[in-house]
Amino acid sequence: MKILGIETSCDETAAAVVQNGTDILSNVVVSQIDIFAEYGGVIPEVAARSHLEAMMPVVKKALKDANCTWDDIDAIAVTHAPGLLGSLLIGTLTARTLAILHHKPLYAVHHLKSHVYANWLNGVPRDGFIRFPILALVVSGGHTQILYMPAHNQFEIIGTTHDDAVGECFDKVAKILGLPYPGGPSIAKAAEKGNPDKYKLPHPRVENLDFSFSGLKTAVLRAVQKELNLPISHPSHDLKNHLSDQQVADFSASFQKTAVDILCEKLDLALAQHPEVKSIVLAGGVSANEALRKALPRAFSPAPYLSGDNGAMVAAAAYYEIESGVKSTDPYSLNIYPRISIENK
Ligand code: KG4
Ligand code: ZN
Repeated sequence: MKILGIETSCDETAAAVVQNGTDILSNVVVSQIDIFAEYGGVIPEVAARSHLEAMMPVVKKALKDANCTWDDIDAIAVTHAPGLLGSLLIGTLTARTLAILHHKPLYAVHHLKSHVYANWLNGVPRDGFIRFPILALVVSGGHTQILYMPAHNQFEIIGTTHDDAVGECFDKVAKILGLPYPGGPSIAKAAEKGNPDKYKLPHPRVENLDFSFSGLKTAVLRAVQKELNLPISHPSHDLKNHLSDQQVADFSASFQKTAVDILCEKLDLALAQHPEVKSIVLAGGVSANEALRKALPRAFSPAPYLSGDNGAMVAAAAYYEIESGVKSTDPYSLNIYPRISIENK
């Protein structure tokens, strides 16, 4: 079965053709990073406009790269939740129109489900190796959650962030340190030359398996001001002008270590509560982080190029929805849900 997956929930316009949920026949991703690097973050209206321009060329290239015509495509899958409203609209309207035009069944997929299913991609017969029940640590720009997965297409949120997502925290700390957007890869790179034990940063006290990352960002801000002997009223956007390269590297390494330690602590707690778990998978943009991967050698993670937003993971998720008996959706009435949880989808 060949599925065309379409993803536009944030700032990547992406389409891919995937066979049987694992074999990537094509994977086209047009990133808007260059546009948003200038602003230091995503501007929703600009993102939607860019999706509109890139969408059809990306779909056409995905079909061409896969050597497919519309006759070869069995179904269309699209992200309809959660994400930026305007961005989701462009992807879903495109998928709905194509489904009607080419008489294809349409599947609407939750974005976090797609990130989890990126672990099944790449033609590797992973089903034999990733075994249920699974714990999925979802670490992206918008979410930080621990999901319990007893079987394909079944998700229970057992831990979630009370405020910022861990990726968002990487992005905000990078801004304080004067590192380019997106902050995750910039911090990881700067951290290579830094001392992770140079600055002691606090771990938040959050009950159970939940997270909080807004305090960590503020702790970095205060630590930078203290290191520079500047008052806490000193504007955060100016701090970068006073930091040496070594200080930036040390703050990056210390922050990254703390963020990774926090994630690992909660995952350990989740494993202690669920000793029946057989596999751990990482999912979302932050799963590309080397320090996190090294700290969790037992965990499966997608190939780094599949950990960020892409269409292949949408097609993979739809394949396992179909396998689990999920019916296709009506292309005339499909809605978008910018904030809905994975449990309600
Ligand atoms: O999953 P994703 O591509 O988009 C969302 O669904 O949010 O995740 C984007 C997030 C950004 O916050 C980015 O800074 C972070 O993933 N990220 C990383 C790395 N690569 C991307 N964070 C830490 N280390 C990385 N290597
Ligand atoms: Zn994502």
